[in-house]
Amino acid sequence: MEKTICLLPGDGIGPEILEQGVLVMDAAVAKNGHHFHYEKALIGGAAIDATDSPLPEATVAACKASDAVFLAAVGGPKWDGLAPEKRPERGLLGIRKALGLFANLRPALLLPQLAGACLLRPDIAKKGLDLIVVRELTGDIYFGEPRGLETRNGSRVGFNTMIYSEEEIARIARVAFTTARQRRHKVCSVEKSNVLETSRLWKEVVCEVHKDFADVELSHLYVDNAAMQLVRDPSQFDVILTGNIFGDILSDEASVITGSLGMLPSASMGAEGPGLFEPVHGSAPDIAGQDKANPLATILSAAMLLRLGLGMPEEAAMIERAVEKTLADGYRTGDIMEAGKKAVGCRAMGQLVAERL
Ligand code: IPM
Ligand code: MG
Repeated sequence: MEKTICLLPGDGIGPEILEQGVLVMDAAVAKNGHHFHYEKALIGGAAIDATDSPLPEATVAACKASDAVFLAAVGGPKWDGLAPEKRPERGLLGIRKALGLFANLRPALLLPQLAGACLLRPDIAKKGLDLIVVRELTGDIYFGEPRGLETRNGSRVGFNTMIYSEEEIARIARVAFTTARQRRHKVCSVEKSNVLETSRLWKEVVCEVHKDFADVELSHLYVDNAAMQLVRDPSQFDVILTGNIFGDILSDEASVITGSLGMLPSASMGAEGPGLFEPVHGSAPDIAGQDKANPLATILSAAMLLRLGLGMPEEAAMIERAVEKTLADGYRTGDIMEAGKKAVGCRAMGQLVAERL
């Protein structure tokens, strides 16, 4: 298979982790005689420095012309002072919108090899944690209009609009139910329908779509309760279906309690066209360029890219097995280091995984 992958290294540790992700992906597909072309483009702070825009037109064009987009991370203190519409994060939001990536899949998994890193009490961790947050990604208060900052009667106000159409809700609900069918057949829809009209519509539409997925068990939680249940007993969750803002918050919570944020990949998919694959963690500017970053979330994002983006499940599984083997052999980057394990840097970790393919 000849495929073109658009690489968006971004900022901070982005370039170094992406290098390892590409190294491993390339080695995995080569095993089966495939060859990929890689096209690099600018996003985030790196794009601001070079072009004054966090998402240059050329980047959107390169992404659209590719078969999949492989992104590392954006942002850093250097650009924190900029106005919201000029910040690196706008690059990320912009490319999601431009590619129509409405479905964000964020698995949170407690690997047995890393159980000691889990932030929860051992009796809770023992029950296991293997869930996926299906987060709507192109609507909600992130993109709703009107929005703005203005002065009313001499007092400054800021405002945003939380809005979902039934079509937007239905298509992400279908993704969640379909995902559940490949897992443990359970969806928990998370909203705030005791207060918000947007959420009342959300719940109603999710129930309507559920009629086509009667084999999947559907439950509902208010977002505050969901946040609580995630730390009280995350083993109750299989698929968490939620909107953009609640999904942003809950996916960080779900991933950090595994104790290994540096391990978690994500996928963002649209109805058609290339998907975007990236680690859940950020650009970690404090350790950038020091060969300290954990490249495993990026390497596992390459596996998601192959499985969901290019329909290459065999190569994806190869990468996942190689990562598990590397951990089982005792290699750890600083963020997941435990007594008695072998400390390695970013490059060595990538190399060790590639050797185990
Ligand atoms: C995420 C991030 C982004 C978001 C930011 C960087 C715009 O937090 O991918 O979860 O809020 O979606
Ligand atoms: Mg977030």
